[in-house]
Amino acid sequence: MSVTIGAAREILRGNDRGGYTVPTAALYPYQWNWDSAFVAMGWITFDEPRAWRELERLLEGQWADGMVPHIVFHAPADTYFPGPDVWRTGHSVPTSGITQPAVLATSVRRCLDAATDRAGAEARAAAIYPRLVAYHRWWAAARDPGGTGLVGMLHPWESGMDNSPAWDVPFARVSPTPTTPIRRKDTGHVDAGMRPTDDFYRRVIALIDLYASLGWDPSRMWAETPFKVADVALNAILHRAERDLLALAQRFGDPAERGEIADRLHRSRAAIGGLWRASDGIFQPVDLSTGERIPVATSAGFLPLYAGIGDGTVASALAATLHRWKALAPYGVPSTAPDHPGFEPKRYWRGPVWAIVNWMIADGFAAAGETGAANAIRDDTATLVRRHGFAEYFDPTTGDGLGGGSFTWTAAIALAWNLLEE
Ligand code: DGY
Repeated sequence: MSVTIGAAREILRGNDRGGYTVPTAALYPYQWNWDSAFVAMGWITFDEPRAWRELERLLEGQWADGMVPHIVFHAPADTYFPGPDVWRTGHSVPTSGITQPAVLATSVRRCLDAATDRAGAEARAAAIYPRLVAYHRWWAAARDPGGTGLVGMLHPWESGMDNSPAWDVPFARVSPTPTTPIRRKDTGHVDAGMRPTDDFYRRVIALIDLYASLGWDPSRMWAETPFKVADVALNAILHRAERDLLALAQRFGDPAERGEIADRLHRSRAAIGGLWRASDGIFQPVDLSTGERIPVATSAGFLPLYAGIGDGTVASALAATLHRWKALAPYGVPSTAPDHPGFEPKRYWRGPVWAIVNWMIADGFAAAGETGAANAIRDDTATLVRRHGFAEYFDPTTGDGLGGGSFTWTAAIALAWNLLEE
């Protein structure tokens, strides 16, 4: 397969299901939240109305309390588990009951800045803006009810980095489901060695069963969950999105909204800064059920720079960490430190490289003036995609493309990041 701009556009068109883009055929047959935020950044490079449509269709699934679900089940499909019958959220547009990293406001701002149809973009962004305000208020109310400045995730799928070794200890507190049958479809599409284990599925479904029994009420979920983690990526991505929302609020909002966003930014900047672990040269998450630090280094730990958090000392320590990792695994950035015992180079979020994460990490290094690290990550990503195509993820030791093929967000970020040629 040729890996060109034209080929990347073909992936997006081929995965278009009518205003929303599936991540890849069969393996993921619905619309995913953070996927679509990145995918709109790809669409905007060659089809502006289609980029706005992607975001609007995602927001068709938004709940009345502001939550934007991690999956919108626009049309029935029998190639994915767990489907809407397992989630039982009871919404007229069927959705899952949890969210995903809040890339959305960042995507809207980027699409607005990139658009050549200025009037069209202003109108579409203005209509979306109140939905973003509601979404960010939901994050604060539902996922940080104590106002600490750190949001907690209540399900590993909310991190987007589903089976990261960082969740192994807190997730062990979730008892596997005794009732709901596990009817995995993913391992019929992709080698089981590249996917989470059956034990992981029994526990993720147990959490879904618990939350369904609580009527998906955020305060009951917060009080009763056995799994509550302040993830670095989730918080850094939300902080960056709050900054982008503040920029949108200058155009579309009022002083009260701007003040509210600025207050949240003030709190989260200090709290995310507190996740820095100088002895390990990386930011690390906190288990909110115990208050303990989770001493696992993952690619999430670089992302505060993408949020504009971390001074020059922190940025150069993170660049040194990156170089250490690259000496062990040549293609950066592995999702888990290559010297961690939980590192598995082919298994989903336990080791492989993800192009969208690379884009965020490189963006952070560039903003912090660590140009060498930013360029190294961009070069690695370009090499991986050009040699191995638009794979879902890549082996950091060999570069091999893994998981689903013809993958939308890999193609989209290659377009947005300008990694390809005609
Ligand atoms: C999956 O099914 O693997 C998804 O990542 C869940 O969001």
